[in-house]
Amino acid sequence: MQSKIVILGTGGTIAGTAASAVDGVGYSAARIGVAQLVAAVPPLAQLPIECEQVAQIDSKDMDFATWQRLAQRAAFHLGCAEVAAIVVTHGTDTLEETAYFLHRVLAPQKPLVLTAAMRPATSLQADGPQNLLDAVRLAQDGRVVGVSVVVAGRAWAGAEVRKRHSYRLDAFDAGDAGPLATIEEGQVRCLAVPRPCDAPIGMAAIASDSAAWPRVEIVLSHAGANGALVDALVAQQVSGLVVAGTGNGRLSAALEASLRRAAQAGVRVLRASRCASGPVIGGDADELPGAGALSAVQARVELLLRLLGARQVA
Ligand code: SIN
Repeated sequence: MQSKIVILGTGGTIAGTAASAVDGVGYSAARIGVAQLVAAVPPLAQLPIECEQVAQIDSKDMDFATWQRLAQRAAFHLGCAEVAAIVVTHGTDTLEETAYFLHRVLAPQKPLVLTAAMRPATSLQADGPQNLLDAVRLAQDGRVVGVSVVVAGRAWAGAEVRKRHSYRLDAFDAGDAGPLATIEEGQVRCLAVPRPCDAPIGMAAIASDSAAWPRVEIVLSHAGANGALVDALVAQQVSGLVVAGTGNGRLSAALEASLRRAAQAGVRVLRASRCASGPVIGGDADELPGAGALSAVQARVELLLRLLGARQVA
């Protein structure tokens, strides 16, 4: 019977501690083990939960090796008949990148719910215990299949979630897309159906040594942007470049010229927007390819995975 919930710990503020209970910023992330986080939430004690510490890092330091290991452990547990769902505890800072990575690689047919906190576990305002409980409630409920993110009582699609605020507890949204669900007093209210991932990249594409994964960098179009950074990155043999353009993914003339030279030299380029919300719309065949509704950091993950997928085919 599918009933077990596996909770994978990766660190973050949810596992953070501070010397003072009123210090919401001067703390150390990734100090408390995932089993201890679960033990601090009494309603979880009765549930069939298995904990595994996959990493213990501040998510600003998230890296390819950790993504690879997290995907491998999630894939392993998702493949077990008795596992109903996975919950991942994570830092908020790169949550949208990890969520998108897992969405594109695994496209799970069971719930995979990431959760996080904006205050450390020792804070008077600690939001981790409630967020963890809400994530488990959504995972148990089972109606939101695939990758989602639960913070502050709402669930967002892993493909669309974005960190919107540097400090507030309710720091996430999904751009133009609304929440998938709310979790209120343990009750899940479904509001939308997540978009399925049509062509998941799959585990085989990310099986190679992560130290040799393609390098993909992000550059920004801004007043006075020239192509010097792009030219330097091409000289360093970067494999892919995401550009966060102004408005609808627009680029200064000099930056665009350097990106076109890069594309001609074989560097894959993807054009996102530096706006907080909204997609890159349209685009003629002669334009540099657009990243649709992906944020620049998610577009970087997308390009990384496309490059890894292309290596598999070659
Ligand atoms: C982190 O991202 O690991 C630290 C910051 C946070 O979780 O809010």
